[in-house]
Amino acid sequence: MSTPRRLLAAGFAATLTAFLPAAATAQGNLTVYCSVQEEWCRPMMQAFERATGVRVAMTRKSSGETLTQIRAEAANPRGDVWWGGTGDPHMQAGEENLTAEYQSPRMSELHDWATRQAQQARFRTVGIYAGALGYSYSAPELARRRIAAPTCWADLAKPEFRGEIQVADPNTSGTAYTMLATLIQVLGEEPAFTYLRALHRNVNQYTRSGAAPARAAATGETLVGITFLHDAVAQKVNGAPVEIVAPCEGTGYEIGSMSIIRGARNMENAQRFYDWALSPEAQGLAGPANAYQLPSNRTAPIPPQAPRFENIRLIDYDFARWGSAAERTRVITRWEREVRAGAR
Ligand code: F6P
Repeated sequence: MSTPRRLLAAGFAATLTAFLPAAATAQGNLTVYCSVQEEWCRPMMQAFERATGVRVAMTRKSSGETLTQIRAEAANPRGDVWWGGTGDPHMQAGEENLTAEYQSPRMSELHDWATRQAQQARFRTVGIYAGALGYSYSAPELARRRIAAPTCWADLAKPEFRGEIQVADPNTSGTAYTMLATLIQVLGEEPAFTYLRALHRNVNQYTRSGAAPARAAATGETLVGITFLHDAVAQKVNGAPVEIVAPCEGTGYEIGSMSIIRGARNMENAQRFYDWALSPEAQGLAGPANAYQLPSNRTAPIPPQAPRFENIRLIDYDFARWGSAAERTRVITRWEREVRAGAR
């Protein structure tokens, strides 16, 4: 480029910068891996950008997929924050030294279950929401098939549900892994695997994402979808004719979590996002985004439609055990071998 043209170009760039909002140019960038529903990821990132001027690049992937990605990138981390997704793979990431220790000044504002999660992970993760596991079914499809309404885990293994159930794959989905760990805690490991083999005969598809079966039950594409209850509520709120079941034997729950990725390129902004995401204002964005989990900040508004733990028979989910790398790997490998590989 000749000198006058170069000067002209530089002048143009300077003029452009002058017209950009000051915060957006000054505050830098942040890369977030988001493991909740896209519908909630997007407004969260936009609100953070508005509040801080930091430019966010976000990608949405399921919990197990994100853990795999962060592990693959460990030598050259590309992400800064992993926001959302079930707590077990976040705990595993902490144990594998893939995430960084951080104690937010907002820690004291959180429910005990959220801080306990942080303490157990030596502050390499923190709880941001909670939600119980269960299933939903299409009421018109159930009536059309003249099947009695299911109320328990045991019902889903009955022959009348052959090919009628959808659930995610625990390799990719934190929801599906929560189901494996839940059934083992409710029934004991051997009976749980006997049950999972029976359930396998009734499964029409193992999806990548945990919430997909709730959408399929909402449209009647599957009769039953096993998901977190809040994902079924999201469908019902949108007008889907589904009934929602908290299984009679008792059920497990997730502590949806957030972690900072070790070696984050934008560490300062990662901590800024982390603190902001624990605030009642940020957590209050869930309900309007059609997300009905229970928030971890004690003063964050609870969406009125959120399933309340006091109405559900919950087990005392052992997060330390089921979030350990050894147990998670062992149970998923056993499921692959003894359940997934079996004929349907
Ligand atoms: O956003 C809905 C949700 O169910 C979260 O509560 C949960 O942490 C996440 O999806 C799990 O998604 P997946 O099973 O795809 O990992």
